[in-house]
Amino acid sequence: MREVLRADAMRALVRRARRRGESIGFVPTMGALHEGHLSLVRRARREHDRVVVSLFVNPLQFGPREDYRTYPRDAVRDARLCRAVGCDWLFRPSATALYPLDFETSVRPGDLAARWEGAERPGHFSGVCTVVLKLLHIVEPDVLYLGQKDAQQAAVVAAMMRDFNMATRLSVAPIVRDRDGLALSSRNVYLNDEERVRAAGLPRALLAASRLARRGVRDARRLEAEARGVLRREAKPQRIDYLKVVDPRTLAPVRRLEGRGLLLASVRIGRTRLLDNRYLIPKRGAR
Ligand code: PAF
Repeated sequence: MREVLRADAMRALVRRARRRGESIGFVPTMGALHEGHLSLVRRARREHDRVVVSLFVNPLQFGPREDYRTYPRDAVRDARLCRAVGCDWLFRPSATALYPLDFETSVRPGDLAARWEGAERPGHFSGVCTVVLKLLHIVEPDVLYLGQKDAQQAAVVAAMMRDFNMATRLSVAPIVRDRDGLALSSRNVYLNDEERVRAAGLPRALLAASRLARRGVRDARRLEAEARGVLRREAKPQRIDYLKVVDPRTLAPVRRLEGRGLLLASVRIGRTRLLDNRYLIPKRGAR
């Protein structure tokens, strides 16, 4: 595996590979890698001749009171993990390389980015789209890999790729969970032991709603109430930012499951914000 610091060097490497007829899979990350990221890299490895992973904590997607400065960083460990799962090129640009002093253009995503995370974190998805667009222009991959844990991010990026006629295809991989069901996230390290135990109440709450849907309940309010009950009892969150049944395509709230729904949640356990989601697949026949 080779570490690449400069955008022009990164682009030259992938263009040379392309001239040799090789395909490129790309996994963008902010580092602090866990099994969720590694599962994306393994998938890219299986599906492509060349695998690029980027490691860049993107200042544009953090709000002024968020954890940009304290976000977990360990480039040596990340590089070791990337090498172990077969990454060819680890792209590790500096902030000034991607955002020089005269940088002034950004992407403004549409309605998909306005709700949920977009409402909680104004400007977040503009920062995500801007960096992903830059990275896609540098790496020019055949396939971009993102995780379903950040379901809204995947939907917003998919819309940008469609709207900007990008040739890259998006592949969204399933959530990777710990043994107790907690979705893996770089921010889980912020949880203390007691909070970590409570955090497992979040996936259990989503699971409870999904079981109810499978038993035939289609009313979104009942499904949300079921999840909220388990969440309050088991996770005792400091705050529920949102917990909503939405249309998986538009992310707009639904009143009733017609087809598949998506239960989106963000809660605060201690000072840590956790995100999770689960598809709700209703049984045929209504209640
Ligand atoms: O999901 C992330 O880690 C980031 O939002 C991404 C896609 C790497 C862009 O900075």
